[in-house]
Amino acid sequence: MSGLGSARRQGDRSSPVVVSASAAFHRDLLAPTIREAVKGDGVYIVDRGGKRYLDGSSGSGPSCLGHSNAAVRAAMHAQLDQIAYAHTAFFTSGPMEELAENLCADAPDELSHVWFTNSGAEAADAALKLARQYFIDRGQPDRHIVIGRHGGYVGSTLAGLAAGGSERRRGPFKPLLPTNTAHIGPAYAYRGLREGETSEDFALRTARELEATIERVGPSRVSAFICETVVGSILGAVTAPEGYFREIRRICDRYGILLILDEVMCGMGRVGTKYAFTQEEICPDLVMIGKALAGGYAPLGAVLVSSAIHDAIRDKTGFFRHGHSFHGHTLACAAALAVQREIEQRDLASNVRRSGHLLDQLLHERFAEDPHVGDIRGRGLMQGIEIVADRSTKQNFDASLQIDTRLTEHALDLGLICYVSASSPESQVGDHVLLMPPYIVEPRHIEELVDKFGRALDRTLERKPS
Ligand SMILES: Cc1ncc(COP(=O)(O)O)c(C=O)c1O
Repeated sequence: MSGLGSARRQGDRSSPVVVSASAAFHRDLLAPTIREAVKGDGVYIVDRGGKRYLDGSSGSGPSCLGHSNAAVRAAMHAQLDQIAYAHTAFFTSGPMEELAENLCADAPDELSHVWFTNSGAEAADAALKLARQYFIDRGQPDRHIVIGRHGGYVGSTLAGLAAGGSERRRGPFKPLLPTNTAHIGPAYAYRGLREGETSEDFALRTARELEATIERVGPSRVSAFICETVVGSILGAVTAPEGYFREIRRICDRYGILLILDEVMCGMGRVGTKYAFTQEEICPDLVMIGKALAGGYAPLGAVLVSSAIHDAIRDKTGFFRHGHSFHGHTLACAAALAVQREIEQRDLASNVRRSGHLLDQLLHERFAEDPHVGDIRGRGLMQGIEIVADRSTKQNFDASLQIDTRLTEHALDLGLICYVSASSPESQVGDHVLLMPPYIVEPRHIEELVDKFGRALDRTLERKPS
């Protein structure tokens, strides 16, 4: 017996779970209670007390079809009645084969194969190991250094934390992290664009940090550059300036380095196209995906792999020295296949572009003159808002004010889920919010989202409703 009491208040099944009495290890151990989700209804989540929350960030991005999609549920039920899982060492499955075909069909021809994982972070590890094995199999075993970006996130495994660029998330785990990494700065125009600098020059200057870093650590020792196509949680929906990724691709090619793009958050339609990189007019060597791949109906990630990498490994070692018990899980692949078909058949990419435009417009109308909204940015249904103490100096709020925690709570009280992150001195970013509603949103949901978010911000900043 654990000695813990009942996590729910005696006799009141509708009250929230008491964290200190719960046997589940929750994220925030000091929070008095946590809400209990019991039902999904389109873009809403319903808690045990019957309160409805508009999912304004699809959780952290996955729930692209909302929480009760009939086609996905039917596909999963049907798969479950056939077989839920068979280990990939012994079997493949129809859903895994069809999903791989679906993902490659919409990618450039170079990306010919898909390695499945259970999460986005596992996709980072798989991509880094694929890059390493590729170079060993190509007879270049010295290539092991991975260059990432400050102000970026590619997952919370040890390799992901090392290659990503969030000091806050690395913090106490630093002594455990692999040391084969180097980092360049982000292409973060709101803070990084210099006085008088054009966007083109900014793109080239920031991209060429990669070249300088490769030269510094030794060109023959670098295996890969990894970054998010659109930066998600660490900076808040930061798109690269036009031309940045073309320059990055040129540099990678020049030094024979693999380009790994992390599209775990921005891929699978979130920014209006299945792959975000197609809007940058380049093709990476490896692409990480996850989150909206299976829409939150099952945990699933994947890495799209170029034929050059696949063939080099096939022709030398003959297999990838990696794997998990559940990778390519049949039920998860069936869910993802149904999700991707639903996005295609309902042409939800068009709705993402349309709704993203409306969201951007309403955010600008509502906050254009707000002294504490420093920047509104993003693409499609991945919009970011940076909150500052002083708009003219871009000074951040003091961390002790806990804007992020309070904004999250006020939003939840008003029935809105949005993804708020704290300011960070190392990447200079202010408190910022990701608004990423499901692809099925209607204009009335966007209006509700902006209204509730505006009211939550007013309450957080303790000002009269505007
Ligand atoms: C860009 C990016 N990469 C990787 C990950 C890690 O994905 P997961 O949480 O599924 O491990 C995330 C998750 O937030 C992400 O936003």
